[in-house]
Amino acid sequence: MKNIIVLVSGGGTNLQALINAQERGEIRNGKITCVISSNPDAYALQRAEKHGIKSQVLSRKNYQNNQAYTQDLLKLLESENADLIVLAGFMIILDKALIQAYENKIINVHPSLIPSFCGDGFYGLHVHEKALEKGVKLTGATVHFVNEICDGGAIILQKAVEIQNGDTPEILQKRVMEQAEWKILPQAVSLFCEDRLTVIDNHAYIDYNKGE
Ligand code: GAR
Repeated sequence: MKNIIVLVSGGGTNLQALINAQERGEIRNGKITCVISSNPDAYALQRAEKHGIKSQVLSRKNYQNNQAYTQDLLKLLESENADLIVLAGFMIILDKALIQAYENKIINVHPSLIPSFCGDGFYGLHVHEKALEKGVKLTGATVHFVNEICDGGAIILQKAVEIQNGDTPEILQKRVMEQAEWKILPQAVSLFCEDRLTVIDNHAYIDYNKGE
């Protein structure tokens, strides 16, 4: 059974999707053992508490830079015996020391079809603002491994979502979450825990013969 540590900063709807999947038995060979928040006021913390999941706050405000923050985060993850780290709306760019320590063991969910609308400055609602500004007809979500390039790691799963007339960033964000993020994040986490993912040359391959 793998220890899944979920890192959050805000509302935590993706954490909720993971908890719901876990309670339905859809996270095979893994268990959410701890939620770590960079924000003491994150609603995600209440979601964890409600479901009896341990949480810790490592407040970004107490650190001068991401590097110093990441050093303490690394210690915390080691003390929690993390097998898989899930960034579920975690709004801090991780320093390379942590990424190297957990190579191909950190998964992020991003609210667009990478390589569109990703990289520095593309997070949360901004991503949807940019998609609407460009006038694309399709957007979606991507779950990928984290490497040293922002949103540049191997892609595990993607799901497309249609843009509709009259969409605002808020409406589009909700549709992308409901139709894509909340589905593909738990699926990717389960695939990882079942050892069904292999990364070669920054490409992720899924073993479809195992487990089904
Ligand atoms: C989600 O849409 C997630 O994809 C996005 O922030 C939101 C967090 O919502 N993450 C990023 O933009 C990372 N680059 P949540 O706290 O309700 O899960």
